[in-house]
Amino acid sequence: MRLILVGPPGAGKGTQAARLAERHGVVHVATGDLLRFSVQWKTDIGREAKQYMDAGMLVPDDLVLELLRRRLSQSDAQRGYVLDGFPRNPAQADALDKMMVEAGQHIDAVVAVEVPDETIVQRLSARWTCPTCQRTFQVKVSPPAGGHRCPDDGDALFQREDDRPEVIRARLGVFREQTEPLVAHYEEQGLLGRVSGVGTLDEVAGRILAAVQEVRAAR
Ligand code: AP5
Ligand code: MG
Repeated sequence: MRLILVGPPGAGKGTQAARLAERHGVVHVATGDLLRFSVQWKTDIGREAKQYMDAGMLVPDDLVLELLRRRLSQSDAQRGYVLDGFPRNPAQADALDKMMVEAGQHIDAVVAVEVPDETIVQRLSARWTCPTCQRTFQVKVSPPAGGHRCPDDGDALFQREDDRPEVIRARLGVFREQTEPLVAHYEEQGLLGRVSGVGTLDEVAGRILAAVQEVRAAR
């Protein structure tokens, strides 16, 4: 199973992609997480990517594609994956289409998760992230049992550099200009389902599953 979640920053892509991947027994591949690990480890890609990420801009395609190709070539990705945060512009979508043709594979469904801008700003300003597993929390609404620590890793949670209001606004602008046009690209391919990302985690997860089933049944 190969799925893509597309949506604005804070739509819940990471939260839902992790659940979806677990349910289908495939891996969750988030280019944002791969980039943040590259920054933490101070790799060449991480050193170059940091300035773009801190400003809320897209990291150049060649760097992102290099990370993605490496991740998808690992053995645990051969059964399938849920892509979160990729593709993010038409050139990345074309590169993915080519990769699929070369590998004799196909994407099963693309789900667009829709959330209003004011909800996004609220969610991201209150988001805390685990540096080890990248799991995210709304500390004010549903605090983890250990306070500002990840219940899975025990590590201290942190607030992302790009979750400051001015960077959130930049990321939203980039999404509307560069990423949202991909929705039409996948709609033309008959791969698209749209869901509202507002509601409980279970409600949103249910909508995503139903959308995936609908797209697959129609093909
Ligand atoms: P990336 O890490 O992909 O960030 P993003 O797209 O801006 O999305 P977020 O991770 O902020 O949000 P999310 O949708 O995953 O929401 P989450 O589940 O955490 O990218 C970061 C940067 O990396 C980019 O700006 C760019 O520089 C670079 N980059 C990454 N990919 C790239 C690419 N392909 N090309 C070029 N550059 C790239 O949820 C958000 C919060 O809301 C959490 O606190 C969560 O607990 C909470 N929440 C989730 N669901 C709900 C709900 N239903 N109700 C209430 N709260 C909820
Ligand atoms: Mg995310």
